[in-house]
Amino acid sequence: MINSLNQLQQFFNNLSKCLKGDEIILLKGNLGAGKTASVKALVKALGGDENEVSSPTFTLMNEYDTKKGTVYHLDLYRLDFFDITDIVGNGIVAVEWPKEDYTQYDFPVIEIEIILLDENKREIIVKPVYKSDYILSCF
Ligand SMILES: Nc1ncnc2c1ncn2[C@@H]1O[C@H](COP(=O)(O)OP(=O)(O)OP(=O)(O)O)[C@@H](O)[C@H]1O
Ligand SMILES: [Mg+2]
Repeated sequence: MINSLNQLQQFFNNLSKCLKGDEIILLKGNLGAGKTASVKALVKALGGDENEVSSPTFTLMNEYDTKKGTVYHLDLYRLDFFDITDIVGNGIVAVEWPKEDYTQYDFPVIEIEIILLDENKREIIVKPVYKSDYILSCF
């Protein structure tokens, strides 16, 4: 259970210790659940500048430098598809509103689902979808 942005940060601090830098992270959850806030927390946990993180709803893709390499941030809310073949494997790909079957790229896929219970209460469900069971040791 997550009751604050602080706790969200704690969650991503734990997760980031397990990341190798080539994962595809799928961020699921309703509007306002905290998907963009999660990318902020992820970038900060990886030693990047969280202030660079903003919603790529209109830019389609943002890139952030971190100590574990680039984080590519996508928001596919208004799109049916975004071609990631050129970026996948070159950094962490974080996708809000994922649209396709990401296991086809043969890089680790982690699903993070945020369920907004009320304004300040969220549940986070982490699923190692594909070749990413190693993250379970970080929780
Ligand atoms: N764990 C949390 N505790 C407190 N506030 C939070 C938490 N997570 C997110 N928020 C706040 O909720 C608001 C919406 O978050 P955010 O923009 O990350 O949602 P989103 O899932 O990306 O929405 P969208 O579907 O529109 O992209 C922001 O103001 C954010 O700071
Ligand atoms: Mg968002």
